[in-house]
Amino acid sequence: MRTGDPCILVIFGASGDLTSRKLVPAMYEMHRAGMLASETRIVGVSRRAKSDDEWRRELEPWVRDHAQGFDAGAYRVFAQRLHYFVGDAVTAECYPALRERLAEIDSTCQTRGNLLFYLSVAPELYEPIIARIDDAGLVTEGKRWCSIDQRTKSWQRIVVEKPFGTDAASAASLNRALGRVFEEESIYRIDHYLGKEVVQSLLVMRFANMLFEPIWNHRYVDHVQVTAAETVGVGSRTAFYDQTGAIRDMIQSHLMQIFAFAAMEPPTSFTADAIRQEKIKVVDAVRPTAPGEVAGAAALGQYAAGPDEGAYVSLPGVPAGSTTETFAAIRLHVDNWRWAGTPFYLRSGKRMAQKRTEVVVQFKPPAANLFRGLRHFSGGLRGNRLVIEIAPRERTLLTFESKVPGESTIAPVAMEVDYAKEFRSANPEAYGPLLVDAMRGDQTLFKHRLEVEGAWHAVEPFIGAASAELRRGIASNYAPGSWGPASAGELMRRDGRAWHD
Ligand SMILES: NC(=O)c1ccc[n+]([C@@H]2O[C@H](COP(=O)([O-])OP(=O)(O)OC[C@H]3O[C@@H](n4cnc5c(N)ncnc54)[C@H](OP(=O)(O)O)[C@@H]3O)[C@@H](O)[C@H]2O)c1
Repeated sequence: MRTGDPCILVIFGASGDLTSRKLVPAMYEMHRAGMLASETRIVGVSRRAKSDDEWRRELEPWVRDHAQGFDAGAYRVFAQRLHYFVGDAVTAECYPALRERLAEIDSTCQTRGNLLFYLSVAPELYEPIIARIDDAGLVTEGKRWCSIDQRTKSWQRIVVEKPFGTDAASAASLNRALGRVFEEESIYRIDHYLGKEVVQSLLVMRFANMLFEPIWNHRYVDHVQVTAAETVGVGSRTAFYDQTGAIRDMIQSHLMQIFAFAAMEPPTSFTADAIRQEKIKVVDAVRPTAPGEVAGAAALGQYAAGPDEGAYVSLPGVPAGSTTETFAAIRLHVDNWRWAGTPFYLRSGKRMAQKRTEVVVQFKPPAANLFRGLRHFSGGLRGNRLVIEIAPRERTLLTFESKVPGESTIAPVAMEVDYAKEFRSANPEAYGPLLVDAMRGDQTLFKHRLEVEGAWHAVEPFIGAASAELRRGIASNYAPGSWGPASAGELMRRDGRAWHD
């Protein structure tokens, strides 16, 4: 794979959790893998005062704990790429000195005027910081923002974290703010789920094999489940979580991305534009859920008290009577030729029985059951099931019916591909390859403006006024360590289906 272009990665929010726990360890892994250009530097911007050396020392334990293969010597070399700038990024006063510092690093390190901004700050700071970057003249569309060598073309790009808005209108507003400063080709809406190898391998499985694609449609697929279950609770993040909930936090972002990969049409080529166009189309084809249909198409829940954490409603910071969901399951229909009549169920929850992220493609059973007369086989044939497990293990399982040797009966068996065993490769932290993609200008695994807005339109009925009935009696309606509220099972039973638990 080509290394990233030489650039300065400018991280706004350098003192924060995401930078220390994810971004810098991921950059260290990319440095060790030889994926960063030797010239590339990282400048962290935050208000807390510290020197370059203090920041480097502060980050070392984070890299030790969160990166694969820590080596003190390699960290010392990597740390020379790290610089810290003290400033309040929402104020105009921050920028003349920041620009000067970036220009100085650019000229000594030969980063060619290329800047990759990363917004790792609270979402309400995104729009003011974007405007300040523009006011400071740091986005020059090919021309150089610093004085040296006017002939060399440069790029300036921006990575935007989730949450990307809180509904369709706020996402559109953020898109407009970005669009006033950056071209769409320079905007990288990140979703670290798309940095996971097994999510990408879904496209390879579908489109590099003859086996799956002919049956990947409503004629053969009964339904599809996309699940992201966590065993942990909300913990101390109640202020953030109570404003967010499982639909905004997980379903609108990560699960809708996985859904798009599973449901999209074959792109005309494996290029960013072609893939993103197909994802936009399939998200656009999601049938809007009418207010009157919301209650029948979803289940919402809040976890009750367990031995190690109180009930969600009793956590400090959660307002009394909060109806924010810690569990959500929604059913979507895709109105296109491929999927008409095949529902997609998206489900996510905290304090669940297992940590598991997966896509389950449940095929229909054969039209006729020739084996009904077998002496010990009274049941019907089960349809094949393809399980693409994203976490905790990265593996694919295909179940099919088989004759039990020596007995006249039939039972399901599974074929399994475990990516870690098969390819013996340690998967790097998803952020690293995604950031290198941004440095190379590859937007394949980043979200387009229309995809984000389309995903909001798909989930909005389940967070708006129409969801009030689903929220009635939500408090403590599921036990920690379970698979969610009883209503989630009922949602499937009503449709004659069951969750893959
Ligand atoms: N943490 C995660 O795992 C994660 C995952 C996905 C998405 N995200 C998103 O990523 C963003 C950052 O999350 P986080 O968890 O890292 O938050 P955080 O721990 O609160 O860090 C944000 C940092 O921004 C800095 N900051 C605040 N105001 C600033 C200003 N005016 N100018 C410059 N720096 C400023 C703060 O440092 P100073 O006080 O020193 O300025 C703070 O440490 C959020 O939008 C979050 O939703 C986080």
